[in-house]
Amino acid sequence: MINVTQTFLPPQAEYQKIVARAWDAGWITNRGALVKELEASLTETLGVDNLIAMANGTLPLQIALKAFGKSGEIITTPFSYVATTSSIVWEGCTPVFVDIDPTYLTIDERKIEAAITPKTTAILATHVYGNPCAVNEIEAIAKKHDLKVIYDAAHGYGVTYNDRSIFEYGDVSTCSFHATKIFHTGEGGALFAKKEHLEKLYFYHNFGHDGPEVFRGLGINAKMSELHAAMGLAVLPYMDEIIANRRKVVTQYREDLKVHGLSIRPGTQWNAAYYPVVFDSEATLLQVVNALRAEKIHPRRYFYPSLDQLPYIENADVPVSHDIATRVLCLPISHALGEADCNRIISLINAHL
Ligand SMILES: Cc1ncc(COP(=O)(O)O)c(C=O)c1O
Repeated sequence: MINVTQTFLPPQAEYQKIVARAWDAGWITNRGALVKELEASLTETLGVDNLIAMANGTLPLQIALKAFGKSGEIITTPFSYVATTSSIVWEGCTPVFVDIDPTYLTIDERKIEAAITPKTTAILATHVYGNPCAVNEIEAIAKKHDLKVIYDAAHGYGVTYNDRSIFEYGDVSTCSFHATKIFHTGEGGALFAKKEHLEKLYFYHNFGHDGPEVFRGLGINAKMSELHAAMGLAVLPYMDEIIANRRKVVTQYREDLKVHGLSIRPGTQWNAAYYPVVFDSEATLLQVVNALRAEKIHPRRYFYPSLDQLPYIENADVPVSHDIATRVLCLPISHALGEADCNRIISLINAHL
């Protein structure tokens, strides 16, 4: 069976050697040595100023919205994973959907200003499939209207845009280290923030604790455990290998598939996080899905449906997102996918075009 992705599992002995340090210390959570070491390693590897490791990629979104959403309207993309929208609603804010750019599939920056009202407090956009949003244009709009910018960069590990980590853009960026992501800690994530926001967000992620008996204000538990940090530390040395094989897969798909892949925004060093293709119709997509499934190959309709169609959302006018969501399919890609399997996938798809 070939799934849309395959979790990279480091040699078990290497994980055990790292996790043994938590046993030796008798300390498995509450920001122990392994979490701190993972944060330091990631800060250096990614070339970012700071980050806070968290329990998943959803909590940092909620924390950012708690800090900056202020129960207002959040301008957001309908083309993302459900967590982007559900976090907005969960934090008592109102999502206002702006359609996506048909080329890059990120929020269409040219349509943002028309959606701003006196109730707008922030923009929450997704660097979808690791493809950066138009960050400079969005920053200019946010400045003009005094809005905060939060990037859901769940897919952004290792991406740079104009030679800066993608996590360095916006007031806050978040990442997911879920087992399906390129870099993972089993479950996990991170929050990246401008220096002036960091302290507040740090306290938010640990109940507001400032020492055992002092509280700086409201907080929640978003801490990463030592067991998850150990997984991250065991995966990290393999990242170059993991990304190199993904790039090979991307090259093969790009060269031989008769259907187009994603257009990456110029200026981007992309991470090959996903391989989405957009078919000419949903009917073709369904034929391809059936043909692949018959061969035990499982692509994923990611993202489907468009998020404005969630049951707790009122209708939005986002025809591009609706159209793309019905025609987009993420093909298998992983550190382990080999040339022969890739060729098989390509032949099966091309036969249906
Ligand atoms: C775009 C996007 N945002 C947020 C998340 C949530 O991350 P997590 O599953 O780590 O909570 C995901 C996870 O798939 C995602 O793809």
